[in-house]
Amino acid sequence: MFLKRLNLNNFRNYREAELCLDSRKVIIVGDNAQGKSNLLEGIQLLSSLKSYRTSREQDLVYNQQGYAEISAEVEGHHGDYNLRIRLPVKGKRELWVNGQKLSRNLDFLGIVNTVLFSSLDIELVRNAPEYRREWLDNLLLQLEPIYTAILKEYNKVLKQRNSLLKLWKNRGITRSEMLEMKIWEEKLAENACRVMRRRKRAIERLKPLAQLWHNKLSDDREKLEIIYQPNVEFEERDDVEKIKEKIREKLELKREAEIQLGATLVGIHRDDIGFFINGKSVRNYGSSGQQRTLLLSLKLGELQVIEQIVGQTPLLLLDDVMAELDLQRQNNLLHCLGSRFQTFITTTHLDYFCDSIIKEAQIVKVEQGCLLY
Ligand SMILES: Nc1ncnc2c1ncn2[C@@H]1O[C@H](COP(=O)(O)OP(=O)(O)OP(=O)(O)O)[C@@H](O)[C@H]1O
Ligand SMILES: [Mg+2]
Repeated sequence: MFLKRLNLNNFRNYREAELCLDSRKVIIVGDNAQGKSNLLEGIQLLSSLKSYRTSREQDLVYNQQGYAEISAEVEGHHGDYNLRIRLPVKGKRELWVNGQKLSRNLDFLGIVNTVLFSSLDIELVRNAPEYRREWLDNLLLQLEPIYTAILKEYNKVLKQRNSLLKLWKNRGITRSEMLEMKIWEEKLAENACRVMRRRKRAIERLKPLAQLWHNKLSDDREKLEIIYQPNVEFEERDDVEKIKEKIREKLELKREAEIQLGATLVGIHRDDIGFFINGKSVRNYGSSGQQRTLLLSLKLGELQVIEQIVGQTPLLLLDDVMAELDLQRQNNLLHCLGSRFQTFITTTHLDYFCDSIIKEAQIVKVEQGCLLY
């Protein structure tokens, strides 16, 4: 896919900016705190409607006043789209596709695909499991927008069940509440099962691609293993009923502990994904170079998975990653990517790039929320 035009109005530190694009490589250059990452954040919002930097939507609005607007013209595999997102400081966001106002977020998702790589991604390797789940969920919602609805439903059920568990802990529950509990548990198992099967499939799909990249980037010295570690273990051959049964069994097993805690201990909100290099956990033993290479391999694998499943090449957003790679690796990376993916790269210095890349790229200068190109 190709981003032809982007407008940012009242978004982060942009008052009114327009970017028209004619190249598959876009280098965004500027000093610190000028708006480079903000620009990528704006593009990324078009694909997931969620910022990778904040969960507070009002942070996205210029000085937290009024509303922000992001609009874009993209060339997708089904033709051109005009997209518009309006984010008010208070109230609900509004969305338009080709001038038509949408009533559901779901209809907006899936039009734009992006893979973003920023220095924040290191959290994915080093930090708690929720960072890895969020990463995988974000990939899944791009592969299948309905995934967002499944997750939302799961979280709703989880909340209901947790409040019943709290009641149980504090004053015991009545017969009718017990019946209600059974209903929530059934729904929990059903939605968990839908998520688990999707997460497993996505990892299986991504694994060989990321492994290949990792081999390439490490000159065949490192073997990468990626393992989906669901909270409730299941086999590839298990059907839906079997998986649900395993979830119910574990719920039964943990019931006492859950009542004590007043919270659900079983389910996909406790899944993890393990990364291993040459048999050793990258989280615990990986050098920072290995961790970075792993991230790069994952992101490159993601690009391909999206391309294979969705049928269009995602936009690649590289925020601040160039500074972390040596010159040789940067150029290798950019040459490996070729021009299949429209790639946006932020940098503070153009001398990070070799002449041939600068020549073919569109250079956009950012200065205090203004774009010069
Ligand atoms: N809601 C907002 N309203 C006004 N300004 C904002 C808002 N959110 C962020 N900013 C400003 O945007 C600037 C940061 O922009 P950004 O993170 O894009 O910088 P950058 O160019 O990527 O810098 P670096 O090279 O350090 O990564 C800061 O000056 C910050 O104060
Ligand atoms: Mg930045």
